[in-house]
Amino acid sequence: MAVAVPERRTSLHGQWSSRFAFILAVSGSAIGLGNIWKFPYIAGVNGGGAFVLVYLLCVFMVGLPIMMAEILIGRRGRRNPIATMALLGEEEGGSRHWGLIGVAGVITGFLILSYYSVIAGWALAYIFESASGAFVEVDSAGVDEIFSGLSGSWIATGFWHTLFMVMTTVVVSRGVERGLERAVRVLMPALVVLLLMLLGYSIIAGDFAQGLRFMFEPKFSELTRAGALAALGHAFFTLSVGMGAVMAYGAYLPAGASIARTSVAVICADTGIAIVAGLVIFPIVFANGLDPAAGPGLIFQTLPLAFGQMPGGIIVAVLFFLLLTFAAWTSAISLMEPAVAWLIETAKLRRTSAAGLVGVTTWVLGFLSVGSFNVLANFRLFGRTLFDNLDFLTSNIMLPLGGLAIVFFAGWVMSRNSSADELDPAAGPGYRAWCFAARYIAPVAVVLIFLNAVGLF
Ligand code: PHE
Repeated sequence: MAVAVPERRTSLHGQWSSRFAFILAVSGSAIGLGNIWKFPYIAGVNGGGAFVLVYLLCVFMVGLPIMMAEILIGRRGRRNPIATMALLGEEEGGSRHWGLIGVAGVITGFLILSYYSVIAGWALAYIFESASGAFVEVDSAGVDEIFSGLSGSWIATGFWHTLFMVMTTVVVSRGVERGLERAVRVLMPALVVLLLMLLGYSIIAGDFAQGLRFMFEPKFSELTRAGALAALGHAFFTLSVGMGAVMAYGAYLPAGASIARTSVAVICADTGIAIVAGLVIFPIVFANGLDPAAGPGLIFQTLPLAFGQMPGGIIVAVLFFLLLTFAAWTSAISLMEPAVAWLIETAKLRRTSAAGLVGVTTWVLGFLSVGSFNVLANFRLFGRTLFDNLDFLTSNIMLPLGGLAIVFFAGWVMSRNSSADELDPAAGPGYRAWCFAARYIAPVAVVLIFLNAVGLF
């Protein structure tokens, strides 16, 4: 039976100035290391083409309906993700226990941030490395040496991780201010322009044909069960869905703004950037005889070769790593925000204390990932380093499970009155398509890929 539509709630923290501001904020969260660092590296490890195809299918068939579900739940509840899930759980499903989905999301964000910050630290270090001229005319052995000098030293990697955590904590403790919104407005387009310049370089100087073939020629024989799971997990990771970050931002979305159009815009921008990043990296990899499956260091071991050869390379390199750091920063903030909002509301901490507490805990935990590239490199659990385990657990298991729970709630537990009220009061064909995707396509796809990964299908 349909529940009465509650009166429109408002958020304590105000609203985005416009739908565009919201698109910027969600894109800021979505576009980050996932697109430029992680996508090329895991596409490389998983053999390219077929992996990329599964990833794209997951983004549009699973990620899109889940992103819409997160925004609609966030806007309906207008609180932090835990309180929103508990509140709507009570209203729609008769139980506040739905709030546990929010709790799981907060923990997931905290775990992701601990290793995210380590990689972001490398990007930060590379700003200074580029500025020093270290990449000028460097060859691949030289690039390797620079990268292992950084990643092989826990002190160096730990130092940059520390700096990045401080930057993130400071912004979150001040509240995500207008300054950030304004900066994102300029820096995101700048990142796109720079990536397009690099694309020009790799078309001219790289082995573009082989890069294209690697990314788009699906060789299904090379796609393993683990690869399909990684593609699913990456769809969640890159879109920031499955942990409540988008839900938290959705709480500040003005009532009239179209959730469908907003989500499509964010997803197209995110996917476009990942594809361009891949088309920049792989031609350089092949032209220089490098290994596409080199792992987490891939962009740090390939891009400097390009910067070292191009005119004005120092400036381009500095700008690139600056923008990459910025993209990582806006994502890190959204990873931290749910935990901080929760502490403020439940433990009644001040924002600075809450951010400080989460910041310090994440920083300490981050040293497990710092060590994975040096002193703990030989310490393996399930055959993986601690860094790989954290990444695997969060991206491939926790985000998809969180997303599954969220989309199940939106599709099956919420009344159609409520979801249609947020998405499309006329319940037109677009709404019906979302319902179908949210009820059947997304959950079935997630479950099938999980069953496949454990060998049951
Ligand atoms: N989407 C971000 C990226 O691609 C990472 C992220 C994941 C941010 C989950 C928030 C939540 O870099």
